[in-house]
Amino acid sequence: MGVRPSVRPLGCGASVDPMSEERYYADKVPETHEPWVAAPDRYQHLEYRRVGTSGLLLPPISLGLWWNFGDDRPFATQREILRHAFDRGITHFDLANNYGPPYGSAEENFGRMMRTDFKPYRHELVISSKAGWDMYPGPYGKLGSRKYLLNSLEESLARLSVDHVDIFYSHRADPETPVAETIGALDTAVRQGKALYAGISSYSPERTAEAIAVARELGTPLVIHQPSYSLLNRWVEDGGGAGPRAADKSLLTVLGEHGLGSIGFSPLAQGLLTSKYLDDEPADRVGRGSFTDDAVTPENRERLRGLAAIAEERGQSLAQLAISWILRPGGVTSALIGASSVEQLDENLEAAAKTDFTDDELARIDALAGTVDGVDLWKGSADL
Ligand SMILES: NC(=O)c1ccc[n+]([C@@H]2O[C@H](COP(=O)([O-])OP(=O)(O)OC[C@H]3O[C@@H](n4cnc5c(N)ncnc54)[C@H](OP(=O)(O)O)[C@@H]3O)[C@@H](O)[C@H]2O)c1
Repeated sequence: MGVRPSVRPLGCGASVDPMSEERYYADKVPETHEPWVAAPDRYQHLEYRRVGTSGLLLPPISLGLWWNFGDDRPFATQREILRHAFDRGITHFDLANNYGPPYGSAEENFGRMMRTDFKPYRHELVISSKAGWDMYPGPYGKLGSRKYLLNSLEESLARLSVDHVDIFYSHRADPETPVAETIGALDTAVRQGKALYAGISSYSPERTAEAIAVARELGTPLVIHQPSYSLLNRWVEDGGGAGPRAADKSLLTVLGEHGLGSIGFSPLAQGLLTSKYLDDEPADRVGRGSFTDDAVTPENRERLRGLAAIAEERGQSLAQLAISWILRPGGVTSALIGASSVEQLDENLEAAAKTDFTDDELARIDALAGTVDGVDLWKGSADL
């Protein structure tokens, strides 16, 4: 790292007011841009997990850019979080065409990282993107047609400044388009070299089985499912006698039987499963478009407090317990979290070191965990 003089003349003979903005930046910004160098010990922190029976390994905790990486957040903060994540062993960054706000901006901002700090590390990264939810107006900017998926992938690659993504997902189930067309589009993406693996997100167990059958026939490396999963949203476990899917197999069972891995998104229920909601005071949130505090009823707050008490006995915060729990044996391959600060990320990363639970802990957690209205925003897709 270069050491710069504390006072820099700003042009010929200009005097610098010590309180001025120029002086502030003269002290902060290095004269010569030196490339960022990732921490040499970055692979000492996490144990990587196999995605089903595939060759792909993912970190137990992956970072998503749904919120906190749009144009509404300073790039310097985004860069600090992304650098820190990679330094701590997070190799997987999850995006979608419409992450922002505005749509596309998270990919653009991540693309800036790819052209600068992450450029020498492209092959150490697993970058994913998706198409399926709405992106642009008209009939070709949503759902699961071949036209939408492949057009959108082209645009994502340009925004991300990469020539391929590592995983390309169908972001949601489509009630009209045949599953064979959607999976066929993912297959084309892989054959074109624009994606290494294929994934699906928020597909029901039945539709997942159908998608896997098509992929097997085509030879598509469909290796992963991305469902929502948290202590307050357990639909992936429903089936075989539990929950509304009593007659069917659960999603986790279907994935296990076919050798697919899983990455559970929103393990903190978008921030609800954190210490922010334990007190009666209003929560301190950076700001999220899709989350309302309506879910924080007195009854739910009591459940959160009960879960927080179990977490404390385990030497964890509520957020850590929530992440550890979805990573427990029999849970998902990776927990896909969001973070609006380096401090949150550091707290959450600790969860990866404590994913074992006693039977007693699991039983007490079961008594408190369960569906909270308004948390599963993706139910419309998973119920198709
Ligand atoms: N496939 C899909 O359809 C789909 C849908 C949704 C999400 N995802 C993926 O999943 C990723 C994560 O989703 P998410 O953001 O909902 O995940 P989450 O981990 O449930 O929530 C993350 C939010 O919780 C708060 N938070 C995180 N750690 C905290 C801590 N230690 N203490 C207090 N607050 C904390 C932060 O929000 P504040 O600071 O604002 O409170 C943060 O942005 C997304 O970025 C995306 O990649 C996929």
